[in-house]
Amino acid sequence: MKVIRTHLDVSQNYITVAINDLAVGQALTRDLFIKKDDAFVIIIDMGTVLTPELLNKLTNHKTFYQLKHQKALSCTTLNKYIKHNQDDVKKTMNLFYNVNQEIFQKFSDSPKHAIDIKCLQKIVDNILLLLQNDNEFLKKVIPHFKNSQELSYHSIHVCIYALSLAHKLHFSFEKSEQLGLAAILHDVGKKKVDELIQNRRTLSVEELDKVHQHVKYSIDIIQQHGIHDPYIINAVMQHHERNDGSGYPNQLHAREISDFGAIMAIADMFDALTNARAYREGFNTFETFTMLLQEQKDNDTLKNDYLKVFLKLLQK
Ligand SMILES: [Fe+2]
Repeated sequence: MKVIRTHLDVSQNYITVAINDLAVGQALTRDLFIKKDDAFVIIIDMGTVLTPELLNKLTNHKTFYQLKHQKALSCTTLNKYIKHNQDDVKKTMNLFYNVNQEIFQKFSDSPKHAIDIKCLQKIVDNILLLLQNDNEFLKKVIPHFKNSQELSYHSIHVCIYALSLAHKLHFSFEKSEQLGLAAILHDVGKKKVDELIQNRRTLSVEELDKVHQHVKYSIDIIQQHGIHDPYIINAVMQHHERNDGSGYPNQLHAREISDFGAIMAIADMFDALTNARAYREGFNTFETFTMLLQEQKDNDTLKNDYLKVFLKLLQK
Protein backbone atom coordinates (compact mmCIF):
# COMPACT_ATOMS: atom_id res chain seq x y z
CA MET A 1 0.00 0.00 0.00
CA LYS A 2 1.34 3.42 -0.93
CA VAL A 3 2.02 5.88 1.86
CA ILE A 4 0.54 8.79 -0.01
CA ARG A 5 -2.19 10.45 1.95
CA THR A 6 -4.33 13.47 1.47
CA HIS A 7 -6.47 14.72 4.29
CA LEU A 8 -10.21 14.31 4.38
CA ASP A 9 -10.82 18.05 4.31
CA VAL A 10 -10.18 17.91 0.55
CA SER A 11 -12.94 15.32 0.06
CA GLN A 12 -14.64 17.49 -2.55
CA ASN A 13 -11.70 16.64 -4.82
CA TYR A 14 -12.71 12.96 -4.92
CA ILE A 15 -15.38 11.00 -6.72
CA THR A 16 -16.67 7.73 -5.33
CA VAL A 17 -16.30 4.37 -7.09
CA ALA A 18 -18.29 1.31 -6.03
CA ILE A 19 -16.87 -2.19 -6.00
CA ASN A 20 -19.38 -3.10 -8.71
CA ASP A 21 -17.77 -0.53 -10.99
CA LEU A 22 -14.57 -2.60 -10.97
CA ALA A 23 -14.09 -5.78 -13.00
CA VAL A 24 -11.41 -8.39 -13.68
CA GLY A 25 -9.28 -7.43 -16.68
CA GLN A 26 -10.07 -3.74 -16.29
CA ALA A 27 -7.06 -1.44 -16.35
CA LEU A 28 -7.37 1.48 -13.96
CA THR A 29 -7.18 4.78 -15.77
CA ARG A 30 -6.85 6.70 -12.49
CA ASP A 31 -5.27 5.92 -9.08
CA LEU A 32 -7.66 4.21 -6.67
CA PHE A 33 -7.94 5.46 -3.08
CA ILE A 34 -9.65 4.31 0.13
CA LYS A 35 -10.46 6.33 3.24
CA LYS A 36 -8.22 5.34 6.12
CA ASP A 37 -8.21 7.07 9.51
CA ASP A 38 -8.19 10.72 8.62
CA ALA A 39 -6.94 10.50 5.06
CA PHE A 40 -7.32 9.19 1.51
CA VAL A 41 -4.70 6.53 0.75
CA ILE A 42 -3.79 5.17 -2.69
CA ILE A 43 -4.27 1.41 -2.79
CA ILE A 44 -3.90 0.71 -6.52
CA ASP A 45 -1.91 2.69 -9.05
CA MET A 46 -3.34 3.89 -12.31
CA GLY A 47 -2.45 1.53 -15.16
CA THR A 48 -2.75 -1.62 -13.01
CA VAL A 49 -4.87 -4.36 -14.56
CA LEU A 50 -7.32 -5.88 -12.07
CA THR A 51 -6.73 -9.60 -11.53
CA PRO A 52 -9.20 -11.92 -9.73
CA GLU A 53 -6.85 -11.94 -6.67
CA LEU A 54 -6.65 -8.15 -6.61
CA LEU A 55 -10.40 -7.76 -6.95
CA ASN A 56 -10.91 -10.30 -4.20
CA LYS A 57 -8.74 -8.23 -1.86
CA LEU A 58 -10.76 -5.14 -2.70
CA THR A 59 -13.99 -6.73 -1.51
CA ASN A 60 -12.93 -5.81 2.06
CA HIS A 61 -13.86 -2.25 1.13
CA LYS A 62 -17.22 -0.99 0.01
CA THR A 63 -16.30 2.39 -1.43
CA PHE A 64 -13.29 3.66 -3.30
CA TYR A 65 -12.30 7.10 -4.47
CA GLN A 66 -10.59 8.65 -7.45
CA LEU A 67 -9.26 12.15 -7.84
CA LYS A 68 -11.78 14.23 -9.74
CA HIS A 69 -9.16 16.21 -11.62
CA GLN A 70 -6.58 13.51 -12.24
CA LYS A 71 -6.34 13.24 -16.01
CA ALA A 72 -7.19 9.69 -17.07
CA LEU A 73 -4.45 7.61 -18.64
CA SER A 74 -4.77 7.79 -22.41
CA CYS A 75 -2.63 8.32 -25.42
CA THR A 76 -2.80 12.07 -24.86
CA THR A 77 -1.56 11.87 -21.28
CA LEU A 78 0.94 9.02 -21.79
CA ASN A 79 4.03 11.27 -22.20
CA LYS A 80 3.24 13.09 -19.00
CA TYR A 81 2.67 9.93 -16.97
CA ILE A 82 5.76 8.16 -18.29
CA LYS A 83 7.91 11.20 -17.50
CA HIS A 84 6.43 11.44 -14.03
CA ASN A 85 6.91 7.72 -13.28
CA GLN A 86 10.13 6.95 -15.13
CA ASP A 87 11.86 5.73 -11.95
CA ASP A 88 9.09 3.22 -11.29
CA VAL A 89 9.66 0.55 -13.96
CA LYS A 90 6.70 -1.59 -12.91
CA LYS A 91 4.30 1.30 -13.19
CA THR A 92 5.85 2.44 -16.46
CA MET A 93 5.34 -1.03 -17.92
CA ASN A 94 1.72 -1.05 -16.77
CA LEU A 95 1.16 2.32 -18.46
CA PHE A 96 2.49 0.92 -21.74
CA TYR A 97 0.41 -2.26 -21.43
CA ASN A 98 -2.68 -0.29 -20.65
CA VAL A 99 -2.48 2.17 -23.54
CA ASN A 100 -1.35 -0.47 -26.03
CA GLN A 101 -4.08 -2.88 -24.96
CA GLU A 102 -6.68 -0.21 -25.63
CA ILE A 103 -5.31 0.35 -29.14
CA PHE A 104 -5.33 -3.39 -29.90
CA GLN A 105 -8.79 -3.82 -28.39
CA LYS A 106 -10.20 -1.02 -30.55
CA PHE A 107 -8.50 -2.59 -33.56
CA SER A 108 -10.15 -5.95 -32.80
CA ASP A 109 -13.57 -4.40 -32.21
CA SER A 110 -13.55 -2.06 -35.19
CA PRO A 111 -15.07 -3.40 -38.42
CA LYS A 112 -12.54 -1.31 -40.32
CA HIS A 113 -9.70 -2.58 -38.12
CA ALA A 114 -8.41 0.92 -37.52
CA ILE A 115 -5.18 1.13 -35.57
CA ASP A 116 -4.16 4.35 -33.84
CA ILE A 117 -0.71 4.62 -35.45
CA LYS A 118 0.02 8.03 -33.89
CA CYS A 119 -0.52 6.56 -30.46
CA LEU A 120 1.79 3.62 -31.24
CA GLN A 121 4.43 6.15 -32.30
CA LYS A 122 4.05 7.82 -28.90
CA ILE A 123 4.63 4.52 -27.16
CA VAL A 124 7.75 3.94 -29.28
CA ASP A 125 9.08 7.45 -28.52
CA ASN A 126 8.54 6.92 -24.80
CA ILE A 127 10.38 3.59 -24.83
CA LEU A 128 13.27 5.31 -26.65
CA LEU A 129 13.30 8.06 -24.03
CA LEU A 130 13.51 5.52 -21.21
CA LEU A 131 16.34 3.66 -22.95
CA GLN A 132 18.25 6.91 -23.44
CA ASN A 133 17.85 7.86 -19.80
CA ASP A 134 18.72 4.48 -18.32
CA ASN A 135 21.18 1.96 -19.79
CA GLU A 136 19.81 -0.69 -17.44
CA PHE A 137 16.17 -0.19 -18.49
CA LEU A 138 15.86 -3.55 -20.27
CA LYS A 139 17.18 -5.56 -17.32
CA LYS A 140 14.97 -3.66 -14.89
CA VAL A 141 11.79 -4.01 -16.94
CA ILE A 142 11.95 -7.71 -17.91
CA PRO A 143 10.91 -8.95 -14.44
CA HIS A 144 7.68 -6.96 -14.91
CA PHE A 145 6.79 -8.48 -18.30
CA LYS A 146 3.53 -10.39 -18.27
CA ASN A 147 3.78 -14.05 -19.19
CA SER A 148 1.11 -14.01 -21.85
CA GLN A 149 0.80 -14.66 -25.56
CA GLU A 150 -1.79 -11.90 -25.80
CA LEU A 151 -0.93 -9.86 -28.87
CA SER A 152 -0.85 -6.45 -27.21
CA TYR A 153 1.68 -7.69 -24.60
CA HIS A 154 3.83 -9.52 -27.14
CA SER A 155 4.01 -6.46 -29.39
CA ILE A 156 5.25 -4.22 -26.57
CA HIS A 157 7.82 -6.81 -25.45
CA VAL A 158 9.20 -7.24 -28.97
CA CYS A 159 9.29 -3.46 -29.34
CA ILE A 160 11.31 -3.08 -26.11
CA TYR A 161 13.72 -5.89 -27.06
CA ALA A 162 14.23 -4.53 -30.58
CA LEU A 163 14.72 -0.94 -29.43
CA SER A 164 17.15 -2.00 -26.69
CA LEU A 165 19.26 -3.71 -29.33
CA ALA A 166 18.98 -0.71 -31.67
CA HIS A 167 20.01 1.59 -28.82
CA LYS A 168 23.08 -0.53 -28.07
CA LEU A 169 23.93 -0.56 -31.80
CA HIS A 170 23.69 3.27 -31.84
CA PHE A 171 20.90 3.46 -34.41
CA SER A 172 19.71 7.03 -35.11
CA PHE A 173 16.51 8.21 -33.44
CA GLU A 174 14.70 8.20 -36.79
CA LYS A 175 15.83 4.67 -37.63
CA SER A 176 14.87 3.48 -34.15
CA GLU A 177 11.41 5.01 -34.53
CA GLN A 178 10.89 3.05 -37.76
CA LEU A 179 12.08 -0.17 -36.14
CA GLY A 180 9.92 0.42 -33.06
CA LEU A 181 6.80 0.93 -35.13
CA ALA A 182 7.53 -2.22 -37.13
CA ALA A 183 8.05 -4.17 -33.90
CA ILE A 184 4.83 -3.04 -32.30
CA LEU A 185 2.87 -3.86 -35.48
CA HIS A 186 4.71 -6.99 -36.66
CA ASP A 187 2.06 -9.54 -35.64
CA VAL A 188 -1.20 -7.59 -36.11
CA GLY A 189 -2.11 -10.05 -38.87
CA LYS A 190 -2.36 -12.77 -36.20
CA LYS A 191 -5.84 -11.50 -35.39
CA LYS A 192 -6.97 -13.25 -38.58
CA VAL A 193 -5.63 -16.63 -37.46
CA ASP A 194 -6.27 -16.28 -33.74
CA GLU A 195 -8.42 -19.41 -33.47
CA LEU A 196 -5.68 -21.63 -34.88
CA ILE A 197 -3.02 -20.06 -32.64
CA GLN A 198 -5.08 -20.67 -29.49
CA ASN A 199 -5.51 -24.33 -30.44
CA ARG A 200 -4.01 -26.87 -28.05
CA ARG A 201 -3.80 -29.72 -30.58
CA THR A 202 -1.08 -30.20 -33.20
CA LEU A 203 -1.93 -28.25 -36.35
CA SER A 204 -2.10 -29.89 -39.76
CA VAL A 205 0.29 -28.78 -42.49
CA GLU A 206 -2.51 -26.73 -44.10
CA GLU A 207 -3.36 -25.08 -40.78
CA LEU A 208 0.27 -24.27 -40.07
CA ASP A 209 0.51 -22.76 -43.52
CA LYS A 210 -2.47 -20.55 -42.64
CA VAL A 211 -0.80 -19.43 -39.41
CA HIS A 212 2.32 -18.52 -41.41
CA GLN A 213 0.09 -16.29 -43.57
CA HIS A 214 -0.12 -13.88 -40.60
CA VAL A 215 3.00 -12.16 -41.94
CA LYS A 216 1.21 -11.30 -45.18
CA TYR A 217 -1.90 -10.20 -43.23
CA SER A 218 0.26 -7.91 -41.05
CA ILE A 219 1.74 -6.28 -44.15
CA ASP A 220 -1.75 -5.81 -45.66
CA ILE A 221 -3.04 -4.14 -42.50
CA ILE A 222 0.03 -1.92 -42.14
CA GLN A 223 -0.23 -0.77 -45.76
CA GLN A 224 -3.95 -0.11 -45.34
CA HIS A 225 -2.88 2.39 -42.69
CA GLY A 226 -0.73 4.24 -45.22
CA ILE A 227 2.61 2.83 -44.08
CA HIS A 228 4.77 1.93 -47.08
CA ASP A 229 8.23 2.66 -45.69
CA PRO A 230 10.40 -0.18 -47.10
CA TYR A 231 12.40 -0.47 -43.84
CA ILE A 232 9.22 -1.02 -41.84
CA ILE A 233 7.70 -3.37 -44.40
CA ASN A 234 10.90 -5.46 -44.58
CA ALA A 235 11.19 -5.64 -40.81
CA VAL A 236 7.67 -7.06 -40.57
CA MET A 237 7.99 -9.25 -43.65
CA GLN A 238 11.24 -10.82 -42.40
CA HIS A 239 10.59 -11.39 -38.71
CA HIS A 240 10.27 -15.17 -39.27
CA GLU A 241 13.09 -15.47 -41.83
CA ARG A 242 16.22 -17.35 -40.72
CA ASN A 243 19.84 -17.13 -41.97
CA ASP A 244 19.87 -20.71 -43.26
CA GLY A 245 16.75 -20.31 -45.42
CA SER A 246 14.55 -22.30 -43.03
CA GLY A 247 12.25 -19.37 -42.25
CA TYR A 248 9.13 -18.01 -43.92
CA PRO A 249 7.44 -16.61 -45.98
CA ASN A 250 10.26 -16.31 -48.56
CA GLN A 251 12.96 -18.68 -47.24
CA LEU A 252 15.52 -15.86 -47.43
CA HIS A 253 19.17 -16.43 -46.61
CA ALA A 254 21.43 -14.30 -44.39
CA ARG A 255 22.59 -11.87 -47.09
CA GLU A 256 18.97 -11.20 -48.16
CA ILE A 257 17.70 -10.37 -44.67
CA SER A 258 17.76 -6.68 -43.70
CA ASP A 259 19.26 -5.40 -40.42
CA PHE A 260 15.74 -4.65 -39.19
CA GLY A 261 14.58 -8.15 -40.14
CA ALA A 262 17.52 -9.68 -38.26
CA ILE A 263 16.76 -7.66 -35.11
CA MET A 264 13.06 -8.51 -35.30
CA ALA A 265 13.84 -12.23 -35.57
CA ILE A 266 15.90 -12.15 -32.35
CA ALA A 267 13.38 -10.01 -30.44
CA ASP A 268 10.39 -12.06 -31.59
CA MET A 269 12.04 -15.40 -30.88
CA PHE A 270 13.15 -14.32 -27.42
CA ASP A 271 9.67 -13.22 -26.40
CA ALA A 272 8.02 -16.25 -27.98
CA LEU A 273 10.24 -18.59 -25.94
CA THR A 274 9.86 -16.73 -22.63
CA ASN A 275 6.07 -16.74 -22.86
CA ALA A 276 3.79 -19.73 -22.39
CA ARG A 277 1.97 -21.13 -25.41
CA ALA A 278 -1.27 -23.12 -25.51
CA TYR A 279 0.86 -26.29 -25.64
CA ARG A 280 3.80 -25.45 -23.30
CA GLU A 281 5.01 -23.33 -20.37
CA GLY A 282 7.26 -20.31 -20.98
CA PHE A 283 11.03 -20.67 -20.48
CA ASN A 284 12.85 -18.39 -18.06
CA THR A 285 15.41 -15.85 -19.29
CA PHE A 286 18.37 -18.13 -18.54
CA GLU A 287 16.81 -21.15 -20.30
CA THR A 288 15.93 -18.99 -23.32
CA PHE A 289 19.42 -17.53 -23.36
CA THR A 290 20.93 -21.06 -23.39
CA MET A 291 18.49 -22.33 -26.05
CA LEU A 292 19.24 -19.44 -28.39
CA LEU A 293 22.99 -19.96 -28.03
CA GLN A 294 22.63 -23.68 -28.71
CA GLU A 295 20.34 -23.07 -31.70
CA GLN A 296 22.85 -20.58 -33.06
CA LYS A 297 25.72 -23.03 -32.59
CA ASP A 298 23.80 -25.84 -34.32
CA ASN A 299 22.09 -24.00 -37.15
CA ASP A 300 23.38 -20.41 -37.31
CA THR A 301 19.86 -19.14 -37.93
CA LEU A 302 20.18 -15.64 -36.42
CA LYS A 303 22.55 -12.75 -37.10
CA ASN A 304 25.44 -13.68 -34.85
CA ASP A 305 26.78 -10.17 -34.11
CA TYR A 306 23.35 -8.92 -33.10
CA LEU A 307 22.59 -11.99 -31.01
CA LYS A 308 25.83 -11.54 -29.06
CA VAL A 309 25.03 -7.89 -28.34
CA PHE A 310 21.47 -8.77 -27.36
CA LEU A 311 22.48 -11.55 -24.96
CA LYS A 312 25.09 -9.25 -23.42
CA LEU A 313 22.32 -6.74 -22.71
CA LEU A 314 20.60 -9.37 -20.59
CA GLN A 315 23.63 -10.49 -18.62
CA LYS A 316 23.96 -9.42 -14.99
FE1 LIG B 1 4.95 -13.49 -36.23
